[in-house]
Amino acid sequence: MSIESVLHEHRTFTPEEAFSSQAAVPSMQEYHRLCAEAAQDYEGFWAKLARELLVWHKPFTKTLNESEAPFYKWFEDGKLNVSVNCLDKHLDTIPNKTAIIFEADNGEVKNVTYKELYHQVCQFANGLKSLNLVKGDRVIIYLPMGIEAVVAMQACARLGIIHSVVFGGFSAKSLNERIIDAGAVAVITSDGQFRGGKTLPLKQAVDEGMAMGGCESIRDIVVFQKTGQDVAWNDQCIWWHDLIAGKADTCEPVMVDAEHPLFLLYTSGSTGKPKGVQHSSAGYLLHAMNTMRWTFDIKPEDIYWCTADVGWITGHSYVTYGPLAMGATQIVFEGIPTYPNAGRFWQMIQRHKVSVFYTAPTAIRSLIKAGEMDYTTHPNHFELSSLRLLGTVGEPINPEAWMWYFEQVGGNRCPIVDTFWQTETGGHVITPLPGATPLVPGSCTLPFPGIDIDVVDETGKDIPWGNGGLLVIKKPWPSMIRTIYNDPERFKSSYYPAELGGKLYLAGDGAIRDTKTGNFTIMGRIDDVLNVSGHRLGTMEIESALVANHLVAESAVVGKPHPIKGESVVAYVVLKGKRPEGEEAKKIVAELREWVGKEIGPIAKPDEIRFGDNLPKTRSGKIMRRLLRSLAKGEEITSDISTLDNPAILEQLKQPVN
Ligand code: WT7
Repeated sequence: MSIESVLHEHRTFTPEEAFSSQAAVPSMQEYHRLCAEAAQDYEGFWAKLARELLVWHKPFTKTLNESEAPFYKWFEDGKLNVSVNCLDKHLDTIPNKTAIIFEADNGEVKNVTYKELYHQVCQFANGLKSLNLVKGDRVIIYLPMGIEAVVAMQACARLGIIHSVVFGGFSAKSLNERIIDAGAVAVITSDGQFRGGKTLPLKQAVDEGMAMGGCESIRDIVVFQKTGQDVAWNDQCIWWHDLIAGKADTCEPVMVDAEHPLFLLYTSGSTGKPKGVQHSSAGYLLHAMNTMRWTFDIKPEDIYWCTADVGWITGHSYVTYGPLAMGATQIVFEGIPTYPNAGRFWQMIQRHKVSVFYTAPTAIRSLIKAGEMDYTTHPNHFELSSLRLLGTVGEPINPEAWMWYFEQVGGNRCPIVDTFWQTETGGHVITPLPGATPLVPGSCTLPFPGIDIDVVDETGKDIPWGNGGLLVIKKPWPSMIRTIYNDPERFKSSYYPAELGGKLYLAGDGAIRDTKTGNFTIMGRIDDVLNVSGHRLGTMEIESALVANHLVAESAVVGKPHPIKGESVVAYVVLKGKRPEGEEAKKIVAELREWVGKEIGPIAKPDEIRFGDNLPKTRSGKIMRRLLRSLAKGEEITSDISTLDNPAILEQLKQPVN
């Protein structure tokens, strides 16, 4: 997407009266009032929300503690339990309301009520207790999308156990690294998973990850029987159904401090090693709930569907925690958008009468294409009148895809909330509020009330609207990252860099604000992080995976704009041996792609690999990534390359292998 096309986007869609009149935030006047309230009494604004939305075991008296900034503490003397806030709270009011409508890969549907979910969580928590797992222990959850994944996370929360969910698409190696970094004492997994009509192994990756060594901290491996396929077994393993057999279906919750870590979630940064983003209990849940209310305008009668996997932050805040804490009915989907065909999402919206739908731009773009090729999968082919609100997340949405989503899926009737946020922010930080904010395709519009987000220059100084700069958050907020697990120094240097004065949270994205409206347009990452299909990948992470292969001497990875995925991965590789050509080059490309799939996961496989005798470097030895990005796009190099040590190799690196 070109930034210019978005900056010149002047179509504006103001909320319709029918929507505004029933919305939680019904007007811009109310939006500005909320922002003014936060500006006048920042702590008071959040304290009021925390008292209104959370159920406290022991009320807090202190709102914000900045004494160890940037390690901020919110509501620190309060105590609560997150699973009580998501489940127990509803037992008197909506016990028989459907909490989850689960649709399996093969289309089978299973519903659970709030009461049933509560008992499942309690029973599984009792199982975890019988393994002597206690508050503060770290547990890895490596499960396919399903009710069990939600149950496992909630059961950990009930006991104050810190979960770290690893997306099922990550490799054994990635799992191994996360087990070690988190010092995890147990893994919860399943024998296998169903995806797109296929039965795939899952526990096998746990076995391989354990075999790579360093996982001595793991005592138990709990295995949910999902597919019935054969699995290797040893005395560390226990079936989920055996673990819960005979266990009581109520379980006393463990009350924790507001700041007790609810979870770690690993995400890519600009250096090689993924970072364990640590979130709190109270502040995190508060923002998940309040964004459900103000951004998604969630109502008791809504059928809400967020398509994200619980392996990502979106699945944490907007599947496992936010919707349950708000007492919503939600869809949990096991499968993929293209099975049995690309009409699956629309068919499911029709079938379950979904009213609020939240997905990623990459999914929308791929379904636009599919619908053009096969009309029976086009949204027009389905009855989508139940929809009232649409959302997107994960990457910028290009105005063309936005318009298609608005017209073809939302029938020109549903507001679209383009929500900007990050693993580190815990919940939305820039987003339209659907009953208030005028929408502009391609812009995530305005700050969420209470979030002091802005654009500054490289020294941290304010700049006028209309100028591009760094996206920063100026005040701490309750759902912010607390630290990088095991690495507080990296937390400080990554997010509160001294160059900006040490007091601004640096998001890592470039942004620009519209001169008239103040609307934000996100210009993409300013660091070496790629966004491929809404997934965050570190270029260094892929480079270190490549150089770990015995054939590879050196590599540099860059992103290239891609019409569906947003960005694709291009790797430049120098082999230890001779630069390969023809069939041999093809063979090595296939081998290296497989290799990266094994080292990190299939999502990180380079889309393209090119070979050179060397990489373009300055005389001081720095790889010129700017040049590599241009080469990847097929651009002629017209810029000054006088600092380039070895210009001749540019010719080699222009050549794709095919
Ligand atoms: C990065 C964070 C937040 C959950 C999913 C991704 C990009 C995210 C948007 C948006 C433009 C966006 C940013 C951000 N991003 N949402 N609406 N418009 N860009 O979480 O893996 O932590 O990635 O995703 O570059 O920094 P994540």
